[in-house]
Amino acid sequence: MQLLENISIKPYTTFGIEAKARFFAEITSVDQLKKIFQEPKVAGLPFMPIGGGSNMLFTADFNGVIFRMGIKGISVTKLDDDYSLVTGNAGEEWDAFVNWCVSHGYAGVENLSLIPGMVGSCPIQNIGAYGVEVADVIEYLTVYDKETGEIVTLQNAECKFGYRDSIFKHEAKGRYVILSVTFKLAHHPAFHTKYGAITTELDAMGITTLSIDAIRKAVIAIRSRKIPDPFVIGNAGSFFKNPTVGADHYSRLKAEYPTIIAFSLPTGSFKLAAGWLIEQCGWKGYRKGDAGVHAYQALVLVNYGTATGHEIISLADEIMLSVFNTFGVHLDMEVNII
Ligand code: EPU
Repeated sequence: MQLLENISIKPYTTFGIEAKARFFAEITSVDQLKKIFQEPKVAGLPFMPIGGGSNMLFTADFNGVIFRMGIKGISVTKLDDDYSLVTGNAGEEWDAFVNWCVSHGYAGVENLSLIPGMVGSCPIQNIGAYGVEVADVIEYLTVYDKETGEIVTLQNAECKFGYRDSIFKHEAKGRYVILSVTFKLAHHPAFHTKYGAITTELDAMGITTLSIDAIRKAVIAIRSRKIPDPFVIGNAGSFFKNPTVGADHYSRLKAEYPTIIAFSLPTGSFKLAAGWLIEQCGWKGYRKGDAGVHAYQALVLVNYGTATGHEIISLADEIMLSVFNTFGVHLDMEVNII
């Protein structure tokens, strides 16, 4: 393991924004991970593990140690005729892992195809798409506890998963390094096609017999059209969360804006499509310098090349203010700001 100094982390994040790490290392084993915490040169400095760097926006240099989790490997334990436990180590690329599961006939993650990032980061923001979240299929995680130096198991319930949320964003922030994630996947798939766009896409593809492979292909087709490829235009997927409003607020909005897009929640509240709100405020396709709002999906902020973290944040602030002034709705950022 090499501990590098003063390294640009631009290539390690999907936003592609220039910032430096005082120290940087690639970690490919648990032994290396333990060693880095004992390294005298970095004693007292903050540590930050990164995976694919797909949900972070750097607004300043990081005066600490960034280490990229590169521990690879996939293993399977058959539970019974219906389910297997499939474990992906933290450094497996997420979509390669999904592809592996689909091609080996393990069902449950196919709707989450083509999401950038690594297996080890997927629980942090409970990645989700097209009616499925990883929380639906995660059984447990193994993590390195920086406070005790032990490797421990966290069961699904202990992670307190919510919409784009988990303990790793709150009380456990900075405490654990995720080493592996174990999913309970099905041998006989239950297909999740209730999200309209999937059914439409499958029809357009001429699919008459459903399979997890067909769902993966449909999701890849939809995502490729809507969400810019971070290798081409810097971005971190949805920049904001879809906000929730109470029933009264929703009925006032619906009366004034009949085409508003919303989903009712079991709590009686409504989740609004933030992309629609932002588009209505005229931001879709907006560009100022190299910071912009994607032309096909207003929830995605983009870096056309040399935008700074501050330029992206200042655009985000302007968007939040105009959505609030128009709809009285507060948007929360989904991306981790550093
Ligand atoms: N919409 C607009 N204008 C836009 C964008 C969207 O009117 O500019 C409308 C769409 O037409 C649709 C609705 O808003 O009726 C929802 O749009 P979409 O299906 O694209 O999903 P989303 O709510 O914008 C969420 C997730 C995505 C995930 C998709 C598909 C969040 C914050 N984002 O986006 O996740 O891929 O659903 O399930 O929940 C991510 O988190 O980074 C991410 C990409």
